[in-house]
Amino acid sequence: MNQIFFVAFLLQICFAFDFNKYNTLDKIEKYLATFNSNYQGKVTSNVEIIGKTFEKRNIYMVKMVTRQKTQCGSCKGKSKKAILVDGGIHPRDFISHAFVLYFLNFLKTTQAGFYLVKKFDWYLIPVLNPDGYVYANNLERLWRKNRNPFNETCIGTDLNRNYGIGWNPENGGSSNPCNELYSGPAPFSELESQAESRLMLKRAFIGYLSIQSFGQLWIYPWGFTTDPVPDKSTLDKCAKTAALAATSRHGVVYNWRQTSQRATLGGISSDYAKAAGIKFPFEVLLRDNGTFGHLLPENQIIPTCEETTDAVVAWADCVCVEMV
Ligand SMILES: *[C@@H]1O[C@H](CO)[C@@H](O)[C@H](O)[C@H]1NC(C)=O
Ligand SMILES: *[C@@H]1O[C@H](CO)[C@@H](O)[C@H](O)[C@H]1NC(C)=O
Repeated sequence: MNQIFFVAFLLQICFAFDFNKYNTLDKIEKYLATFNSNYQGKVTSNVEIIGKTFEKRNIYMVKMVTRQKTQCGSCKGKSKKAILVDGGIHPRDFISHAFVLYFLNFLKTTQAGFYLVKKFDWYLIPVLNPDGYVYANNLERLWRKNRNPFNETCIGTDLNRNYGIGWNPENGGSSNPCNELYSGPAPFSELESQAESRLMLKRAFIGYLSIQSFGQLWIYPWGFTTDPVPDKSTLDKCAKTAALAATSRHGVVYNWRQTSQRATLGGISSDYAKAAGIKFPFEVLLRDNGTFGHLLPENQIIPTCEETTDAVVAWADCVCVEMV
């Protein structure tokens, strides 16, 4: 009996999830399997499958909710709302998957995290594009699209051009299936964007964070047009709050603005979230500002996750204050 426990203990050490590394999909899925649980009778977490990919992989979502009905801090007295977070819409953004996993662990293991789960229910999709992530890990590190083939030579659609809002290959995307910005043959032609939009329509989320890289930037709708959203000043305020909180952690400067300020982009997920009624949708571009780009060294994973967690905590507080 003792020997069995000892072996189990060794296995635990050998296969403990390492937040300092970019983990493979295999390791991430094993880690997620530990999330079906109930922490001290307070927080319930469930792993759900929200869809399948072209290569028949599951798209997993972890749901973390409390039984308590009362909210705390700036959310006090308001009905409890939910927030959706995704990573890896572009698989080459390795830091984005790493952040969502770090953040899950933060929610699960820390007092500050528990406080956030008391304020909001959290729905987290660490790997929205698992086919692309496996391909980026194994064959082409800078892969951006999914793996749905157009023909033998031209594979994949840029998911963040495929959502059904302002979809237009001529507007920041591409109609060429060989191009890495290929918008797909039609809005929501892809299983991954379909899965996430179903979720957005089913559950009335108050906030959405699409975690990407790189650029050190918090951006908000609209992207497909230079027109402002009606509540632009509120979104700008919360983006600013988040960017300043991120900056103050390690002095790495984050900025904020409307997505289309530099160039318009059609069919992006944060615009769709807004159109689907999610009041506070943002695209969060993590480190860096171009030195390493998508090849952010592993020794920057933890500092990036720390500053981004600070940013999300401050952002969530802003959402509490501003939401009705
Ligand atoms: C695949 O489609 C692209 C774009 O239409 C075309 O240029 C290419 O020749 C096609 N490849 C094959 C093998 O049909
Ligand atoms: C990029 O970030 C580094 C580290 O924070 C900083 O020293 C540098 O000035 C930044 N460059 C630009 C162009 O913002």
